Amino acid sequence: MTEDRQQLTVHDLLQMKQRGERIVTLTCYDALFARLLDAAGVDVLLVGDSVNTVLAGAETTLSATLEQMIYHTKLVVRGAERALVICDMPFMTYQVSTQEALRNCGRVLAETGCHAVKLEGGGAVADTVRALVAVGIPVMGHLGLTPQSVHALGGYRVQGRDEDAALRLQADAAALAEAGAFAIVLELIPAPLASRVTKALAIPTIGIGAGPACDGQVLVLHDMLGLNEGFNPKFLKRYATLAADVREAVGRFAAEVREGRYPGPEHSVAK
Ligand code: KIV
Repeated sequence: MTEDRQQLTVHDLLQMKQRGERIVTLTCYDALFARLLDAAGVDVLLVGDSVNTVLAGAETTLSATLEQMIYHTKLVVRGAERALVICDMPFMTYQVSTQEALRNCGRVLAETGCHAVKLEGGGAVADTVRALVAVGIPVMGHLGLTPQSVHALGGYRVQGRDEDAALRLQADAAALAEAGAFAIVLELIPAPLASRVTKALAIPTIGIGAGPACDGQVLVLHDMLGLNEGFNPKFLKRYATLAADVREAVGRFAAEVREGRYPGPEHSVAK
């Protein structure tokens, strides 16, 4: 963990790429975890619209709302000291028109105190990215498996496998960088393609299921902590087994309550 607690900026991420330092990113949805992750030295806290599936129990991210993202981003900003906080813009808050994107992304920055927004898509959103950057809103791109397009993509599957798709993805990455994006998430694409994109770009790539060559890695916090046992993609490594810990702890609490063993005298006030 770095000793330097100074607030990171999008420029620091660029310098980290230039120095060959990997960018550690995790999703985060609340102040309690934001404090823990920040203290552990995580560089970027991404308030992903995955909050809609992971915490809210929805099937997809499509029904995430702007109010929901603003609420969770405010909580994360409260808990973060050093980490850069990025808010994922929900489906249809930035695609309808550049004006709407400016209004919605502007609201997110002004109301939450976060440092940047993330949009899914490549060339199709490049003009919007340019307009946002022009008014001072830093933008992270997101290519490959873009969950807001799950129906168009035909499911949650690896993207960029054939040569045409790989070329399209490379062109999209170049378009985002040219429009002023400060970084790009590469989700679920072959490792050699992620390596090519990473080498071609001056801005950092943050991979999830995109192999080791990316400038940083991101995982969904609840997946890597082992809280989401039903989700087992090849790329996921679990660093803890918290679902089992929760079952065990709650099971002991329930048994002690039922048997009259909790609270004991040490947890009670005599008079
Ligand atoms: O919504 C999310 O959590 C994301 C990450 C998985 C990149 O977009």
